[in-house]
Amino acid sequence: MSLVVFPFKTEDPEVVVANLRVAAEHPSVSRVLAVGFEVESTYQAVESERDDMARAASTPIDLVLQERVGTKRSGKGDGMNTALRYFLDETDSERIHFYDADITSFGSDWISQAERAADLGYEVVKHFFPRSSTDAMITWMITRAGFALLWPRTELPRIEQPLGGELLFTRPVVEALVADERVQAQSDWGIDTLYTFSTVQAGFSLYETYVSQGKAHALYGGLTDLRTMLVECFSAIQGLAGEVVGENVTHQVEAAEAVPPSITEKIGYNLEVTLGLLSQNWTERQEHLLDGFPDPIRRGMLANRDAATFLFMDEEAWHLTYRRLLESFVPGDADWDELLFRLWITRVINYTATRALRGYEHAQSYLASMVDGYVHAAQSGP
Ligand code: LAC
Repeated sequence: MSLVVFPFKTEDPEVVVANLRVAAEHPSVSRVLAVGFEVESTYQAVESERDDMARAASTPIDLVLQERVGTKRSGKGDGMNTALRYFLDETDSERIHFYDADITSFGSDWISQAERAADLGYEVVKHFFPRSSTDAMITWMITRAGFALLWPRTELPRIEQPLGGELLFTRPVVEALVADERVQAQSDWGIDTLYTFSTVQAGFSLYETYVSQGKAHALYGGLTDLRTMLVECFSAIQGLAGEVVGENVTHQVEAAEAVPPSITEKIGYNLEVTLGLLSQNWTERQEHLLDGFPDPIRRGMLANRDAATFLFMDEEAWHLTYRRLLESFVPGDADWDELLFRLWITRVINYTATRALRGYEHAQSYLASMVDGYVHAAQSGP
């Protein structure tokens, strides 16, 4: 039997409560856990509804506040690690599932799909979703690119959505993650990267299950909304550089199906707002930090002080940029954070203007071949 966990902050309480109910009513689920960031309106809504829901479904629904487990900014990582510890200490369940609490397209079949893969013997199951071609820009440009450059011979760059928060772990996986100090320290947005990395490095088998209806969540405005996530996801990869990962991991990816227009036609972020960011918030120190970058990149970035320019930031330029960042980026340094953000935006706008505009199919195959290109480049030497 399984424990299903929803970490949450302030979300639409109706959505969270509906998702808790779906989980509590699933026949494979023996307990549901909601992990709140703090006591606020969503937390109170869950608290007032959970007894009735639990009674109706004959499944306990627990509500806890996340503990301070890690050493980085206290965020989603502390919430998820709190749940792993709860699973080991308070339950004898065989499996734990995680789902984001705010998903409006969540359904019972998400749980069933993960259970079926676990029944086949897989130790880790991750859900993956069709995503708009301008969504997933941290996933592609930071995480999959970084996995390709640093661990080209492993399964890491082949994982569809390494940052996805919808997944299942079997009990031995949870034991390994709780024993892994790097994972327990990662209290911020880097947690998904660490879970993915640590489970592959430990050699656990991985199944990726496809959810065709997609994961409906709010649109991002300007890419500013993603700034903290970007910095924390990059820092997580940088902190792992130098680790050794074996090549033999069982990894199965379910075939994807036709993608609906609601996703192929969706624009992932506000382009006009984002273009404006290229010329804002420059400091003299950021200009100096660019001295360490190869010239076309340094010159192109400096030109953005006057007018938006991004055509120079193609996949080769991003490769060089990424390597330089791996060597020199200083986490927690405000100018480095801003420069990383600006470099990434330049890359995302380049990709949007030269690739995403050509259509969904083109964009998807371009992104896949970009990662393949990095895998090949990294294998033929640094
Ligand atoms: C990603 C963030 C944008 O996956 O959700 O890249």
